[in-house]
Amino acid sequence: MGGNHFGTIFTVTTFGESHGPALGCVVEGCPAGIPLGIDEISQELQRRRPGGGGPATTRIEADTPELLSGVFEGKTLGTPIAIMVRNTNQRSGDYDALKDVYRPGHADWTWEAKYGFRDPRGGGRSSGRETLGRVAAGAVAKAFLGEYGITIQAWTSSVAGIPVPDPEELGFDLEEREKNPLRIPHRETAAQVLGVIEQIRSAGDSAGGTVSCMVHGLPPGLGEPVFGKLDARLAGAMLSLGAAKGIEFGAGFAAAAGRGSTQNDQPIPASLQGLPREVPGVRYQSNQAGGMLGGISTGMPLEFRVAFKPVPSITKPQKTLDRRGLVRELIIQGRHDVCMVPRVVPVVEAMTALVLADLMLLHRGDRIGT
Ligand SMILES: Cc1cc2nc3c(=O)[nH]c(=O)nc-3n(C[C@H](O)[C@H](O)[C@H](O)COP(=O)(O)O)c2cc1C
Repeated sequence: MGGNHFGTIFTVTTFGESHGPALGCVVEGCPAGIPLGIDEISQELQRRRPGGGGPATTRIEADTPELLSGVFEGKTLGTPIAIMVRNTNQRSGDYDALKDVYRPGHADWTWEAKYGFRDPRGGGRSSGRETLGRVAAGAVAKAFLGEYGITIQAWTSSVAGIPVPDPEELGFDLEEREKNPLRIPHRETAAQVLGVIEQIRSAGDSAGGTVSCMVHGLPPGLGEPVFGKLDARLAGAMLSLGAAKGIEFGAGFAAAAGRGSTQNDQPIPASLQGLPREVPGVRYQSNQAGGMLGGISTGMPLEFRVAFKPVPSITKPQKTLDRRGLVRELIIQGRHDVCMVPRVVPVVEAMTALVLADLMLLHRGDRIGT
């Protein structure tokens, strides 16, 4: 099976199935000497953890990471970093009834069409639980980017069509985000969404939403102008997540209805953006482009949004086919998120960190001098 490896220099391979003994990752290409401890990794995993998503989720897992290699006395060695998380709360019996039917909205039939054999317990490797390895690897990438002052912040920006006010307009106070289980940086909207999620749960249904992400401190010049565009790499990373259905950068799809005169960001001297006079180069009056032009970072904050469909496992009865081709009525048992959007927030951050760490290292080989 291919496609378990991501990146060019700073790379990650994830392993494990939802209901196997363990999941995890091997990170390669991380430079030596980066401060990294189990606490940073653990903290990120706790943000992704089922049961950490409050009322939107029902499966409870401890998700305690074990750091197997690559770190000595709190610093990376430059060797492969292996991180493992044991599955402790699988309840695989919940899936007995599903082994011969194809769940609507899941990869059951496509997996079988491709491989001819599958692990039906919780979606196996197609499970959202695979993202655990990505989040652990993302913690390593974040530690590396932290050395350059690069910060990545994602948040729930809509659920079930209810938009969350832009944190930039609210003064970018993302502290509120970690205070509520929906990762919505706006208390009133979070309360409204909680009510709607309860209604959706009672109806045996599920909800989707969007995650917004901003990166600050990114230098200009990251990304490659043709196949390795920054936007193309981020899109590939985000659309590799289960349930991801689209991504937009900066003004996004709305730009298609705009005019050049309103969509072009005007270059201005860096000093006019409140930066010290000696900061060289260009800044932009606006950021409709979302921090990149021609696939290369502009030095402005990176801004994008990812859309996630409602999780396919719903308790409402659904019609489907079984392996013999017979129509069956399906009622999915077990523990499933009503809305996985809050849990995918740290995953979006992790994938962003992996793309950017790789591009930072690739950029070093792009030209001589500074
Ligand atoms: C972090 C995360 C958590 C997820 N949790 C669930 C879940 O609890 N229930 C569910 O039915 N799908 C969940 N999914 C989505 C499914 O894995 C995904 O929709 C399915 O594999 C089909 O793939 P596709 O939607 O990308 O086509 C989750 C995805 C991610 C990334």
